[in-house]
Amino acid sequence: MFRTLIDTLRLLRAGWTLARHDAMFPAEYQAAMPAPARLVGKVARLIAIRNRADNPGERLAQALEKLGPAYIKFGQVLATRSDVIGESFAQGLMRLQDRLPPFDDDLARAILEKELQGPISSYFETLGPAIAAASIAQVHKARTLDGRDVAVKILRPDVERRIHRDIRALRLGAKLAQSLYPKSKRLEPHAFVETVARSLTLELDLRLEAAAASELSEASAAADNFFIPEVDWARTSKQVLTTRWIEALPLNDIARIDAAGVNKVKLAADLTDAFLTTALERGVFHADLHGGNLFVTPTGQLWAVDFGIMGRLGLSERRYLAEILYGFLTKDYDRAAQAHFDAGYVPPHHAKADFASALRAVAEPIFGKDASNVHMSRVLLQLFEITELFDMHLQPQLVLLQKTMVQVEGVCRSLSAAHNMWTASGPAVERFMRRELGPEGQVMDALDDLRALRGAIRRLPHFIDDISDLAERARAHPPRELRGPLHWGWGMGLGFLLACAVGGIGYWLLHTL
Ligand SMILES: Nc1ncnc2c1ncn2[C@@H]1O[C@H](COP(=O)(O)OP(=O)(O)O)[C@@H](O)[C@H]1O
Ligand SMILES: [Mg+2]
Repeated sequence: MFRTLIDTLRLLRAGWTLARHDAMFPAEYQAAMPAPARLVGKVARLIAIRNRADNPGERLAQALEKLGPAYIKFGQVLATRSDVIGESFAQGLMRLQDRLPPFDDDLARAILEKELQGPISSYFETLGPAIAAASIAQVHKARTLDGRDVAVKILRPDVERRIHRDIRALRLGAKLAQSLYPKSKRLEPHAFVETVARSLTLELDLRLEAAAASELSEASAAADNFFIPEVDWARTSKQVLTTRWIEALPLNDIARIDAAGVNKVKLAADLTDAFLTTALERGVFHADLHGGNLFVTPTGQLWAVDFGIMGRLGLSERRYLAEILYGFLTKDYDRAAQAHFDAGYVPPHHAKADFASALRAVAEPIFGKDASNVHMSRVLLQLFEITELFDMHLQPQLVLLQKTMVQVEGVCRSLSAAHNMWTASGPAVERFMRRELGPEGQVMDALDDLRALRGAIRRLPHFIDDISDLAERARAHPPRELRGPLHWGWGMGLGFLLACAVGGIGYWLLHTL
């Protein structure tokens, strides 16, 4: 009760900040609002700050920045739902800045000593001031006793408690939104807040970020030019992540990249390839690829940092994605349609030909235009929108991939205005398709089947035991009417099952080998 009261007060504070930025009931959406919301919006604008942004998404971003880390994450996740909030609102929201003044160096040292369980001097020769600070953590450059330069990321003190507190208020807000404004149902406010909460919980344990870094580092070996700094596990804990220092230029600093004479056209192609290759070949992708998390060395090596958000695709999603991109690249819509049905994304009562025709409607306009004017991420988004007509439920990780592709395309075009995502993705997609459909892919499929079969054979004795047990028990206490022919019945049933199993194995062997 007391807690609900506190949460309500916090929500009111958030409401006040939103109102000050005309972000709760924005003037632009008056027409679509119920009368009471329109009235509150009008009153709120009387108290709103004067020099507010034009784009309502940007106004919301400014309000969320003031409200703290949980709200900032809420905005970042919301920005990925342009299918619900609209493209221009999402664009404005994407300007959300997550930069704050750093916390005190002494405090950072105290956290390090507590987390690493020893004096700083037994881990680091030097520890510099913070070089970057955001709402959840800040990063220092340091040198280890054996002379290696490292980046030390330290969680903000008290951030965990603050985030849990704000998430409670957000949950309450979701409940309110769902009951007061039924139209918000499309966003599924409750599930949405849970997604935000889960993502934040992962970011609050830097050991998980360290694990993600090492997983992505393995995956990056599949790409030609993509590198991940290695984790220094001895200097890593729940609140501290230490990685090798990367001496390189951030991809959002084009002037310095130009001055260093880096080949930007190749760099853009490498980035596209790295993103798709890790996703397709290894089923993992860095899902926060903005220019501030990407770096290039003067020799042209591409590096990524910040592994708080990772995407994961299962084999069927990887095949689906490759088939779709391949279908678009080769204009084979029937095949792309088939991929949707194979992945089970489109319920079988829909006609495949109708679906292929819908895909054509998305893809054909691309080929009339100069491909460099057509964003691949937007085509995927349109595709996902069309699929709604076919009762298709997309795997959320594919939506995350599409959102990351928006970032990748943005970075690539800032490097090279003529960057053609379609051409750049060709090699990664073709490599995957060749392998999946060629002899190697078929051997892998056969191996998967073999593994499944081996599991089934292993379980067979237990299965037979269970049946014998059952037969034994039934013989000991048979239902009256079955007493006579019972052991005959069980014997025949068991024999039949065994015959089916042996027959099945034989059939499989004949057809596979
Ligand atoms: N290994 C590293 N080498 C060099 N700089 C790094 C490294 N890791 C992080 N940084 C710097 O610190 C900044 C913030 O780190 P990041 O992991 O992106 O934190 P946040 O989650 O707060 O964005 C990066 O943008 C980069 O400038
Ligand atoms: Mg970052």
